Amino acid sequence: MSKEIMQKNIARAQAYIDQNKESVKQGRMRQDYHFMPQTGWINDPNGLIFYKGKYHIFYQYNPYYGHWDYMHWGHAVSEDLVHWEHLPLALAPSETYDDHYRGGCFSGSAIEHDGKLFLMYTGCTNNGSGFEQTQCIAFSEDGIHFEKYEGNPVLAAPEGVPKHLFRDPKVWKNDGKYYMICGASKNNLAQALLYVSEDMLHWEFFSVLAQSRGEWGYMWECPDFFPLGDKYVLLVSPMGAGERTCVYMVGDFSYETGKFVWDVSGEADWGFDFYAPQSFVDGKGRRLVIGWANAWDWMPFWKDWGPAYREGWCGSFAVPRQVKMNADHTLSFEPVEELETLRGEETVQENVLVEGGREDIPLQDGYAYELKMEVDLKETTASAFSLLLRCDQDRTRQTKITFDLKGQHMYFDRNQADGWSRGVSHSPLRLKEPGVFSVHIFVDTSSIEVFAEDYRTNHSCNVFADRSQDKNFLSVPAGNLKIRSMQTWSLKKTMDC
Ligand code: FRU
Repeated sequence: MSKEIMQKNIARAQAYIDQNKESVKQGRMRQDYHFMPQTGWINDPNGLIFYKGKYHIFYQYNPYYGHWDYMHWGHAVSEDLVHWEHLPLALAPSETYDDHYRGGCFSGSAIEHDGKLFLMYTGCTNNGSGFEQTQCIAFSEDGIHFEKYEGNPVLAAPEGVPKHLFRDPKVWKNDGKYYMICGASKNNLAQALLYVSEDMLHWEFFSVLAQSRGEWGYMWECPDFFPLGDKYVLLVSPMGAGERTCVYMVGDFSYETGKFVWDVSGEADWGFDFYAPQSFVDGKGRRLVIGWANAWDWMPFWKDWGPAYREGWCGSFAVPRQVKMNADHTLSFEPVEELETLRGEETVQENVLVEGGREDIPLQDGYAYELKMEVDLKETTASAFSLLLRCDQDRTRQTKITFDLKGQHMYFDRNQADGWSRGVSHSPLRLKEPGVFSVHIFVDTSSIEVFAEDYRTNHSCNVFADRSQDKNFLSVPAGNLKIRSMQTWSLKKTMDC
């Protein structure tokens, strides 16, 4: 029964993709090296796993339109995290529990069990009394073709948790048992609920792993929980927490009590376009995260889905990042070293003293490139400097990244970027001793990711600038800026779609 319906829906989606991918490929906003769909809309990365020697990403996918609706799971694999091969869709809506307009197969995760690849996802449906979310299982022998478990759904919302606010299971294994956390809401406060299972099919409630005290919203989407060094990390994408869209907490966890007690928190990214990151460990033992380069709050929702939407697609993934723990238990999110294989032409400058108050200094032209710089704060008297990126000839169009060294603040201003994007994302900096201030930037056709202070303070925002906007400048309004080194590389195109 159901098996055939899912296969039919996958085949229909696949046929649509094959018919339309060539025309979508022509879009001016298509990314050069960030993962994106062949057609249609993507949001959260799902089911990230290093499985049988390859990186697998699944993702929230509406193949038919460049806007969110009717969620399928797309699928791609890679051997190096930078070149991706699109595979057939893994899941399509097909059952009473996951087949509905504005519903479908919502986010979830993957794990190897019993020699098979298991997916745990949220089925979202509406049987006439509002949206209902339950946790479901699918599995595959070959890691490509999936079948939904006949006993689905395996878990419904517990008492007190609204049926439409119970989603995004993230599963892992510890000491022979399976554990899973799920986003939920109770009394209008966000929660991460912990469940345990012996066989991936029967799940029991274990504990409320953590909850918001009001400061972090009414619902945590895509919670993720993992050990790092001798600590544990909870990563959540809160709804209803204002501009805070990707928060981490670091603390201690006990498998005896199921409680997580944290004392350090921060932002994985302060930009407008980094949301729902999911983590996994790869063959090299690294804890990696991949995030969706977009977010709900900053989208002029339902009205205008933006310049990419008009080209028949929308959404990409931020560059994969490795999570590292600092001595003070804050986290750094560092782009993976594999990205270095994309580097083309290089320009290097070393030990340059820039005198402020003069003309802005032109940097290497480009719309898809990487820029790495180190500022020697001991020999710097400038209280601030800016990078003007993706500008047109006369700089009426520009994206301005400002580092206010004296005021200890960072700004990412895209109000003049492209005529569509808006807003200034901003965050504190934490410069203490005068030392070296590091900045590392990845620019692509429609996104800019800025990593500062050794990858602790990061801003990722989409910018829909035309490729002809390829001028870049350094601006030092007053004082001197001592640049220890500045390197730029053009980056090769990897996304052939
Ligand atoms: C996060 C999210 C998830 C949900 C999915 C639906 O972006 O809202 O909570 O499972 O997207 O596409």
